[in-house]
Amino acid sequence: MAAYCSLLLALLLALSSSSSASAATPYGFEFPQFNAAVADAGCDGKLVAEEEALARRVPPLKLHMTHRSAAAGATGTGSFFLESAEKDAVRIDTMHRRVSLSGSGAGQRGSAPRRALSERVVATVESGVAVGSGEYLVDVYVGTPPRRFRMIMDTGSDLNWLQCAPCLDCFEQSGPIFDPAASTSYRNVTCGDSRCGLVSPPETASPRECRRPRSDPCPYYYWYGDQSNTTGDLALEAFTVNLTATGTRRVDGVAFGCGHRNRGLFHGAAGLLGLGRGPLSFASQLRGVYGGHAFSYCLVEHGSAAGSKVIFGHDDALLAHPQLNYTAFAPATDTDTFYYLQLKSILVGGEAVNISSDTLAAGGTIIDSGTTLSYFPEPAYRAIRQAFIDRMSPSYPLIAGFPVLSPCYNVSGAGKIEVPELSLVFADGAAWEFPAENYFIRLEPEGVMCLAVLGTPRSGMSIIGNYQQQNFHVLYDLERNRLGFAPRRCAEV
Ligand SMILES: *[C@@H]1O[C@H](CO)[C@@H](O)[C@H](O)[C@H]1NC(C)=O
Ligand SMILES: *[C@@H]1O[C@H](CO)[C@@H](O)[C@H](O)[C@H]1NC(C)=O
Ligand SMILES: *[C@@H]1O[C@H](CO)[C@@H](O)[C@H](O)[C@H]1NC(C)=O
Ligand SMILES: *[C@@H]1O[C@H](CO)[C@@H](O)[C@H](O)[C@H]1NC(C)=O
Ligand SMILES: *[C@@H]1O[C@H](CO)[C@@H](O)[C@H](O)[C@H]1NC(C)=O
Ligand SMILES: *[C@@H]1O[C@H](CO)[C@@H](O)[C@H](O)[C@H]1NC(C)=O
Repeated sequence: MAAYCSLLLALLLALSSSSSASAATPYGFEFPQFNAAVADAGCDGKLVAEEEALARRVPPLKLHMTHRSAAAGATGTGSFFLESAEKDAVRIDTMHRRVSLSGSGAGQRGSAPRRALSERVVATVESGVAVGSGEYLVDVYVGTPPRRFRMIMDTGSDLNWLQCAPCLDCFEQSGPIFDPAASTSYRNVTCGDSRCGLVSPPETASPRECRRPRSDPCPYYYWYGDQSNTTGDLALEAFTVNLTATGTRRVDGVAFGCGHRNRGLFHGAAGLLGLGRGPLSFASQLRGVYGGHAFSYCLVEHGSAAGSKVIFGHDDALLAHPQLNYTAFAPATDTDTFYYLQLKSILVGGEAVNISSDTLAAGGTIIDSGTTLSYFPEPAYRAIRQAFIDRMSPSYPLIAGFPVLSPCYNVSGAGKIEVPELSLVFADGAAWEFPAENYFIRLEPEGVMCLAVLGTPRSGMSIIGNYQQQNFHVLYDLERNRLGFAPRRCAEV
């Protein structure tokens, strides 16, 4: 997860809370009607940008959406927005820190045994808007007897964790909290276990005590930025997953964080399902079941009530997609968390934006299901923004001073809106072209349309967030170390 743009999310979510799959074609430039729900939600749409002058490296803006009144049918979507924005900001900050610390962890591959015959695991992915989350959620069964928990699907982190009883500090979640005492298969990981070393507190904290390596528990610490973190016991549990063919499969001894103190903006979910590259992620630990070669997901539009699938293992239907393109991941080590891509240039309206290659190379580019908007280092972002402004003015009136996002245009009353094309070009020549609704956000009823991209610090990481991935089938092919992407109406998959 990264943390810059919770604002936007909040906006998006509020806007899109009622939409189902829109009729927009993946490559048209006609915007879907996904914002029409704002009025229904009872929000008056007043956005108040509030600066939070904490010494963060990230633009510390909060967006509040005030509700008209309960009588008018107000829902929680407004506050939801602002939390999402804040959350993105925090997350990105975290990512920088995690990168700077990486390489220190002792690598250990998941202990699940390899099976000669691998099966495919499947779970439903849904937009979290209905529960106030800008992320996508998947359900997983945990414990004995198995109970169902809704977790945020995050390719930008490794650790799986659930809010755990006794809850010393937990956020609100929908559904019951995981209770280790109610599961016969719960075990603490001991502090002498090498997995324990992967989730240590930051170096600044006092060194971990481990008197009896074979019996003392492993307190873990995992953070998502200055404001989001989870601590508790690293534990082992049985996770039960659905198979694509039929039936379920119980996987014993999956390491996860039993979080007794969880702070941050993870609204609605019971915890987080890490799909990063590292050894503790769900994708890595379940390798023995699905073969570990690949997983893929298709993200429905934000706010859509439809579900789609995340599949661990090869998805033949996807592999047969005629428009499936691939680009190589950057070389990675065993303990890397992020899926780095080798982004070379950014095209706006078919022309490469003038960005020095150093700017993009400095922080690298990752693809992340747990960050909402997309981010580029400040100099690149400024150039991208200018490229849009140059091409869109004077067709649409620019709104100066709109909070957080830029450029924003007044498109009230305008019918079909045309915006310059956006595509990403990678070092191996692969191109990823996006439909307009993946990089412009339309806010109704204000009739405002904004570029859904933000800047990060100069040396910052570029992040392709989940908003930009909507309605693409995205394949993480770890066998051939490459990312696949194909346009798809995900609600129909
Ligand atoms: C697993 O499959 C069953 C039967 O198709 C379905 O009812 C259930 O919702 C699925 N569970 C998850 C977590 O996707
Ligand atoms: C796990 O460790 C915690 C201490 O961190 C302890 O309270 C709990 O009882 C242990 N659970 C089991 C099942 O051993
Ligand atoms: C976890 O986050 C909370 C809330 O932002 C913060 O007050 C606390 O200091 C953090 N804990 C650690 C150990 O960083
Ligand atoms: C690209 O940007 C650099 C530095 O900002 C500038 O020196 C150069 O002239 C620009 N090139 C073009 C083709 O605009
Ligand atoms: C957009 O333009 C219309 C008139 O075309 C105006 O009524 C409205 O206030 C403008 N909205 C914003 C946010 O500037
Ligand atoms: C796949 O690559 C081709 C050729 O570079 C390009 O025309 C097409 O738009 C790409 N597909 C996507 C989904 O970007």
